[in-house]
Amino acid sequence: MSIAHGIRTLGVLGAGQMGLGIAFVSAVHARVPVLLHDRAPAQIKSGLALMDKLLAKDVAKGRLSAEEAKEARDRVTVVDQEKGFKGFRDVDMVVEAVSENLSLKQTIFRSLSTELSPSTILASNTSSISITKIAAATIPEGKTASDAEGKQSASRVVGLHFFNPVPVMKLVELISALQTSSETLDRARAFAVACGKEVTTSQDVPGFVANALLMPFINEAIMCLEKGTATRDDIDKTLRLGMNHPMGPLQLADFIGLDTCLAIQQTLYAGTGDSKYRPSILLERMVDAQWLGKKSGKGFYDYPHIGATAEILATWSTLRRSCDEPARCRCGVYIGSCTVVPPLVSRRKQTWNGRGS
Ligand SMILES: NC(=O)c1ccc[n+]([C@@H]2O[C@H](COP(=O)([O-])OP(=O)(O)OC[C@H]3O[C@@H](n4cnc5c(N)ncnc54)[C@H](O)[C@@H]3O)[C@@H](O)[C@H]2O)c1
Repeated sequence: MSIAHGIRTLGVLGAGQMGLGIAFVSAVHARVPVLLHDRAPAQIKSGLALMDKLLAKDVAKGRLSAEEAKEARDRVTVVDQEKGFKGFRDVDMVVEAVSENLSLKQTIFRSLSTELSPSTILASNTSSISITKIAAATIPEGKTASDAEGKQSASRVVGLHFFNPVPVMKLVELISALQTSSETLDRARAFAVACGKEVTTSQDVPGFVANALLMPFINEAIMCLEKGTATRDDIDKTLRLGMNHPMGPLQLADFIGLDTCLAIQQTLYAGTGDSKYRPSILLERMVDAQWLGKKSGKGFYDYPHIGATAEILATWSTLRRSCDEPARCRCGVYIGSCTVVPPLVSRRKQTWNGRGS
């Protein structure tokens, strides 16, 4: 086992689409034992079922031997509701991947810093929230940011931003809080590399680099739909065929999760005070309606056969693996226009096409 990152056991908090993917690459590529916890047992169940499916496919395709797949699966252990964060007591790093909400993440990091050893690295997979704010929440009660304990606690917090779907996307964005130590940064970077990822770094600004650029673009696309500039299909097609994007911005928003898109856009708006980041009203209303995209089965498109995170990841993997002509596929994994329409995409129904549904 590589020890450059010093992570002998990893805790992953949240088994949604991101947490499950992070657990997967950690077990398969970094070969690190993973403790996985989510407050929703159903999420864990569907996640593990998906992991079994992905491993079986990797074996069938000759990417892993049956023995390697079994070893990877055996590295993942569930921490149940009863143990909660206490189950992470012996891990060297936790990667948090719960919903994109500042106060939720601050509460969680406060509890993690109380429960775990001061040397445990606390990483957040947040898409946009200030790592500095999250790190400040770990300062122990009664201590200040300049006390030794306060400094030490905040210095082990770091942003480790994996991309969706984690098993496929090559990048991790590394974000340093004002308080993050260079040792924390180095070890987090080494861990991402061990997971098979390339690493870029960003300052701790709202949205970092990736979402400061991507989310306003998606938000503008939703505003185009809201204003009736074009239909859903024409907006997505324009970007796919005109700009060679692997998928249109509305479809991408569905894959990310509309609740996550809205939370990121709100962070950009609140964090900069700039009106150019005002979230689209249509996006707000769709989240109000619980139309969250693929994970809820309904978004800009309908996904009647999909309801659970595991199924979403399965879709990605099916698309990737069902493609006979990857160089020409438009499934979102390979770039380029194509005539191959994977079965799950062709079954898709329209929900919001600019004229109602
Ligand atoms: N979706 C993306 O494309 C994407 C990409 C990069 C980063 N992220 C970030 O990753 C994080 C997770 O996103 P996701 O898409 O996996 O969301 P998701 O909705 O699929 O999963 C979130 C999970 O967190 C769990 N959870 C919520 N509160 C919890 C708590 N208190 N304790 C334990 N588990 C809890 C939920 O049960 C759920 O399973 C967010 O911060 C998001 O911004 C998302």
